[in-house]
Amino acid sequence: MRLHSNPASPFGRKVKVAAYETGLMDRIEVRNVQTTAVGPDPVLIVDNPLGKIPCLVLDDGTALYDSRVICEYLDSLHAGARLFPEPGPERWAALRLQALGDGIMDAALLARYETFLRPEERRWDAWIDGQLDKVARGLDRLELEADGFAERIDIATITAACALGYLDFRFAGLAWRETRPRLAAWFALFGARASLLHTLPPG
Ligand code: BEZ
Repeated sequence: MRLHSNPASPFGRKVKVAAYETGLMDRIEVRNVQTTAVGPDPVLIVDNPLGKIPCLVLDDGTALYDSRVICEYLDSLHAGARLFPEPGPERWAALRLQALGDGIMDAALLARYETFLRPEERRWDAWIDGQLDKVARGLDRLELEADGFAERIDIATITAACALGYLDFRFAGLAWRETRPRLAAWFALFGARASLLHTLPPG
């Protein structure tokens, strides 16, 4: 299988962490891509017309996107403990937390693009602040739920960890740990897993 991704992408990292946790990473060849809405990668858009990463291309040429679909596909391939719970209340809870972590990453990426990609004279500060407010509210919610994360290795905790990792990478100034001690304590342990250490964003 081939994965279009980028070492800095938190959604790409989420897929790689899921691949490590399911023992499938050695079946995946990673193709590093630079792609944006204004400069989509020409090879990627053949597989994903949206030009977005991550995109996983199976051996028969089938392309899967986005990270939610790819992670669930990887989960279907292995015999170990499931990353996605069986249908029922636990599954809805895990999917909601996945959506929360994805939403934090989406908001952080939109803030990053606004400062990094958009020409300075066209930046909209109130819009950036609005995205960072979403991040802050999302983190506050994770803090309330962090006591339930211990020992859990599933799509909820993988996504939360990738969101926190991206904030440390691009938004270190947010100092999110200062007001979220339970989340910080959990991430100190979870972030030391081999799957997270193998996928750290570039230093
Ligand atoms: C970044 O540099 O922050 C980044 C690069 C690719 C995808 C997402 C984020």
